[in-house]
Amino acid sequence: MASRGGFSSKAGFIAAAAGSAVGLGNIWGFPYEVGAGGGAIFVLVYLFFCFVLCFPVMITEIAIGRKSGRNAVGAFNALGHKKWNFVGKIGVLSGILILSFYNVIAGWAFGYTFQLGSGNFAVADNFTAFTSNVFEVGTYGMLFMIATAFIVSKGISGGIEKAAKILLPTLIFMILGLVIYSLFLPNAMSGLKFYLLPDFSKFSFNVVFNAMGQAFFSLSLGMGALITYGSYVGKNDNIVSSAALITLADVGIAFIAGMMIFPFIGYISNGELTGVGGGPELIFVTLPQIFGSIGGVTGSILGASFFALLCFAALTSTVSLLEVPVSYLVDEYKLTRTKAAWLMAGIVYVIGIPSLVGNGYSEYFTEFIQYFNAETKTNFLSFVVNLANDSFLPLGGCLIVFFAAHIWKKENIDAEISIGAPNYEKSFVKKYLSIALPYLVPILLATIFIMTVLVTFFGVDF
Ligand code: PHE
Repeated sequence: MASRGGFSSKAGFIAAAAGSAVGLGNIWGFPYEVGAGGGAIFVLVYLFFCFVLCFPVMITEIAIGRKSGRNAVGAFNALGHKKWNFVGKIGVLSGILILSFYNVIAGWAFGYTFQLGSGNFAVADNFTAFTSNVFEVGTYGMLFMIATAFIVSKGISGGIEKAAKILLPTLIFMILGLVIYSLFLPNAMSGLKFYLLPDFSKFSFNVVFNAMGQAFFSLSLGMGALITYGSYVGKNDNIVSSAALITLADVGIAFIAGMMIFPFIGYISNGELTGVGGGPELIFVTLPQIFGSIGGVTGSILGASFFALLCFAALTSTVSLLEVPVSYLVDEYKLTRTKAAWLMAGIVYVIGIPSLVGNGYSEYFTEFIQYFNAETKTNFLSFVVNLANDSFLPLGGCLIVFFAAHIWKKENIDAEISIGAPNYEKSFVKKYLSIALPYLVPILLATIFIMTVLVTFFGVDF
């Protein structure tokens, strides 16, 4: 068999996996979830779940990938449990669905980079007019998908790893620049207070539930992205410390994204913090208005930098989403990487068209579906989000962990983790995993899955 390629070093893997994790979920999703979830209390719950729930799943996915040396579907076959490869197939499907709409949003961000860069702040006044202009935004999306396919076609060390090693540091540098700028604005501190001082009266079941879902999506779990990346990891690398660093990088960047955004919101709302209602508008409407109110060249530079940063973050994530089906095609159907990458990118782009046109342009896809007991209709893009992110990911994660602990067996996970991690045998992590993997994590994930289906699709009120 031809070589599948691999990461050139542990640092290369960590950069790529952290690049996958850090994406729209951190810079777009996290702040608006914080806004909707009552501020700092959400942040606390989120941090808790990243380590308690997500960290074990991450270790498991990487271990399955490295042991099997195969894609998300082939991994189950290689471990001798072909019957379970449906779990990998759900993962490949989730990857395709997520990428299909994710790329549309990335295309908007790409478009905003140009608009704000050229001083057109008015674009934010009528966001629907912008998204309805499907030929323009569709072209931005297409360019984005081409960039993604290009990187994936260049392979693991020559494409994915190289891109992440450039994009990730650039992104961190840009966010820090914006954090410093935003902290010096008038009323910045009121935003920070909302973000950092927990108001325990806002604690609710919904906060817990949304924080779990957000943590899971943000860490790229539940669809085999990390099984796939894990299959390119060297045998001598330490899985536990890698997973810890990836989690810290993801959490850290989400955290500083909040440090950048909430001072801006404190500023625009004169310290009242109105408009922190959450929702996608936070990034595409509120923030550009802030850049507009700063105005002039400074406003343009800030605005364009922010959206360029969002694109960089999205690109290392779209690459990991595309890699899942691509490595499946390469391993199982013997396609060349180049062919698989361009073919898959084309298919995904087409699947994304209803999400593209369902934001004002096509009435049918804009008012796509009305869930039971819902007052309003849901557009196609949100429908795919509810299906893939909110439902398939927790389901997939639950099945992956259940499989690993009960079918592949905990001893085998431990044996794989121990390679490259000499201290693992006696560590606290090992003890924790012996409770988390067989019981705690599958139960929590099954609960999120069932609750999401009931709440989202059937309007059940808890
Ligand atoms: N973690 C990415 C983000 O936060 C999204 C993602 C999910 C990427 C699943 C790959 C797999 O934006």
